[in-house]
Amino acid sequence: MKKILIIGSAGQIGSELTLELRKMYGGDNVIAGVRKTKPSEKLSSKGPCEVVDALDVEGLRATVKKYNIDAIINMAAILSATGEKNPMLAWDVNMNGLINVLEIAREFNMKQVLVPSSIAVFGPSTPIDNTPQETILKPTTIYGVTKVSGELLGDYYVKRYGLDVRGLRYPGIISHETLPGGGTTDYAVAIYYEAIKHKKYTSFVNEDTRLPMMYMPDCLKATIDLMHADYKDLKHHSDFNVGAMSFSMGELAASVKKYIPDFEISYAPDERQSIADSWPNSVDDSAAREEWGWKPDYDLDAMTKDMLQAIEEKHKKGLI
Ligand code: SER
Repeated sequence: MKKILIIGSAGQIGSELTLELRKMYGGDNVIAGVRKTKPSEKLSSKGPCEVVDALDVEGLRATVKKYNIDAIINMAAILSATGEKNPMLAWDVNMNGLINVLEIAREFNMKQVLVPSSIAVFGPSTPIDNTPQETILKPTTIYGVTKVSGELLGDYYVKRYGLDVRGLRYPGIISHETLPGGGTTDYAVAIYYEAIKHKKYTSFVNEDTRLPMMYMPDCLKATIDLMHADYKDLKHHSDFNVGAMSFSMGELAASVKKYIPDFEISYAPDERQSIADSWPNSVDDSAAREEWGWKPDYDLDAMTKDMLQAIEEKHKKGLI
């Protein structure tokens, strides 16, 4: 890969992935695609930024031609909670955006397309603990429906056209650079901000809610390691389970309390509770470990320490 376009560069994962890949490939070789959001100084000062909307095929084609793009990472998506508020929008962005990207990649003979999937592909009838790689995929959210379809579509393009499409089922991603938006797992980020700002947090899922989660450095490592894996070693393509940690909301609050003893947690579950309840507690990621050597670095307390430090600094600087 020589010229990578990241669609959704202003988002939670896109913003950090763009900077990380620029360190590896050089600033000019990683094009930040943003839709409406004004790119941050960090993003626009270290390499090219373009307005790219995956729903606008002509615009996408023009950007691909302009920079001679040979790989696309499509991070643009409507997440689970927003998706339930506007299912048609989720379908449009997640499916029509994806097929546009795949078709453009085919047209320009690209070396690789990376499209993330999610634990949202699972549903209430999926085995809940150590969820296998191959299992029942009957999600109950529109986001999950688009992610299952996206995995199938990715694998179809591999088989039918020989396009190298790769994807991984992200768990909830926790980070302090850019806020997530509209996801069910957002509570695991919000708790840290509220702990620093107000020493208390009201959770929208109950104390026993347990989900697979991952800290951003591991998310970046997983994404980049999968991108760089040798194609011939891959038996799976668009649907790798990747695990890192699994904790309940109560355990997360206890971890924050270790560092901020007077932190207070309360619970007021809302409509996101039933989404969280439909997802697994933990996933079996042995396929990712075997096929491309996946291994996470962070556990809950290591992440909590890091998150609180970073957010405290932002707070001191008056940024939050
Ligand atoms: N973080 C996502 C969500 O909560 C799951 O992939 O929607």
